[in-house]
Amino acid sequence: MKETMHSKILPVVGSGYNMPAYEEAYNNFSWEDVEKQFTWYETGKVNMAHEAIDRHIGTLRENKVALYYSDATRDEKYTFAELKTLSDKFGNVLRKLGVRKGERVFIFMPRTPELYVSVLGTIKVGAIVGPLFEAFMEGAVRDRLEDSEAVAIVTTPALLPRVPVKELPALKHVILVGAEGELEEGQVSYEKEMEQASEDFQIEWVDREDGLILHYTSGSTGKPKGVLHVHNAMIQHYQTAKWVLDLKDDDIYWCTADPGWVTGTSYGIFGPWLNGATNVIRGGRFSPHDWYSTIEKYKVTVWYSAPTAFRMLMGAGDEVVKQYNLSSLRHILSVGEPLNPEVVYWGTRVFNKRIHDTWWMTETGAQLICNYPSMPIKPGSMGKPFPGIVAAIVDDEGNELPPNRMGNLAIKVGWPSMMRKIWNNPAKYEEYFRLKGWYVSGDSAYMDEDGYFWFQGRVDDVIMTAGERVGPFEVESKLVEHPAVAEAGVIGKPDPVRGEIIKAFISLRDGYEATDELLEEIRQFVKVGLAAHAAPREIEVKDKLPKTRSGKIMRRVLKAWELGLPTGDLSTMED
Ligand code: WT7
Repeated sequence: MKETMHSKILPVVGSGYNMPAYEEAYNNFSWEDVEKQFTWYETGKVNMAHEAIDRHIGTLRENKVALYYSDATRDEKYTFAELKTLSDKFGNVLRKLGVRKGERVFIFMPRTPELYVSVLGTIKVGAIVGPLFEAFMEGAVRDRLEDSEAVAIVTTPALLPRVPVKELPALKHVILVGAEGELEEGQVSYEKEMEQASEDFQIEWVDREDGLILHYTSGSTGKPKGVLHVHNAMIQHYQTAKWVLDLKDDDIYWCTADPGWVTGTSYGIFGPWLNGATNVIRGGRFSPHDWYSTIEKYKVTVWYSAPTAFRMLMGAGDEVVKQYNLSSLRHILSVGEPLNPEVVYWGTRVFNKRIHDTWWMTETGAQLICNYPSMPIKPGSMGKPFPGIVAAIVDDEGNELPPNRMGNLAIKVGWPSMMRKIWNNPAKYEEYFRLKGWYVSGDSAYMDEDGYFWFQGRVDDVIMTAGERVGPFEVESKLVEHPAVAEAGVIGKPDPVRGEIIKAFISLRDGYEATDELLEEIRQFVKVGLAAHAAPREIEVKDKLPKTRSGKIMRRVLKAWELGLPTGDLSTMED
């Protein structure tokens, strides 16, 4: 809200973008015009995998590279035609196992071509795909497979020990990628089944409102929520990838997100392939040298990443950038957390490009508020609503607030890629729509007098660490499973690189002493039981944690302690 934040404007550079100037695009837009471009507009029968892959067969894109993949040991490429054949075959593998339309098939493996083939094949039989981030440990895997009653999982021998097959009665099939030796009952080898599978395949045509993908995400209370998206989402995946990512036929596009998170599917699979673009997938861990050399090696033109990654690259220094030829880059985008103005200025200095922030959520399925290549940028702002989207700042009753007033960031309901369900939890779903006609995001923001939106924070206690959303409740639940921990309260602590880090306040049970060894053991306990990114980086021991009279840990008080701020209204706190 500070006037200085608004003062600097980065103008549009160059021309020839897919999207017209913002006002023109916004004022002349209708989703129906987008829909009409799909062949299924008349029939209503559709399949995302057909539109993303099969549709390009018989066109100039047929033998174009759809996927470049490399990691420390592999270096491969796949054309659209090859991906069609492979995913058809995988569809036949699933059909042979008896997987049917609407059933849930989970994919739990590192980012490799097999992951992408499995996702596409699952969608081709009309099943709902559930991608799981490879860092998840047993507890996190169990919660998701149990809640969704998944019938099959595609995984690797290394990750299999984290899948508690015997405790999951609905789970009938384990498809192992890279298995050697004898398999157990209920297990099949991906390679063997693919070798035997026919290329002759009939895709399952579904309704546009049929389930496509289930992404689990964290809230501030309860277990992770299964956010269901439907095939209809493709309308928005297609149009946003075209206008926001500005994808054209000769682009080499690199989305750095893992398909375990929504960015890695909406914009790592669907958006780019619906537009016939070439996807780059780089396996392995982050390092500045590896990332820059990936851009250089593939001559990446469009690059979609996250603030934490940009901040780490920035921290690695300008000298590293200069060792690589990054002149292929023409468009850079960011998502997941607030993009600091410093990072945008750094981008203009080292890449000579603006970094375009985009705002959306797992629940929204696709980008909603963005900086467009055809629009001036105000560094620090998330940008303006995509055409067809009405965004506003509303108070807690749903009344729209005037410019420069902070409130709930809300979206008028009814965009094509909106989630359709929280799996098994209609009450949680309804909560998002409690203010009549609005989807309530859980973010607070304000809109300036020019219609640019500025992120302020989460309204709830959800933690965003290194671009990953972590629910404090999940971490607290895991912490109190440790025999030494009596109570736990978890907050996000501001961090210059990761946005926030996870900080846990705990009290110990009688007989335990707060030694460094014990605290490290507790940290490892969460890491092994939940996921590495969910383990608290800091643990502080207190005699007692602040609680409400009904026994709820008051995270807001913990946060105030941490930041040295006033604790506010304590009227609900016990003694
Ligand atoms: C939350 C959603 C779908 C993208 C990956 C994260 C935060 C997202 C921005 C941004 C500031 C952002 C919000 C949002 N967030 N983009 N450009 N600026 N904050 O998806 O895990 O569902 O998390 O990420 O707090 O509510 P997610």
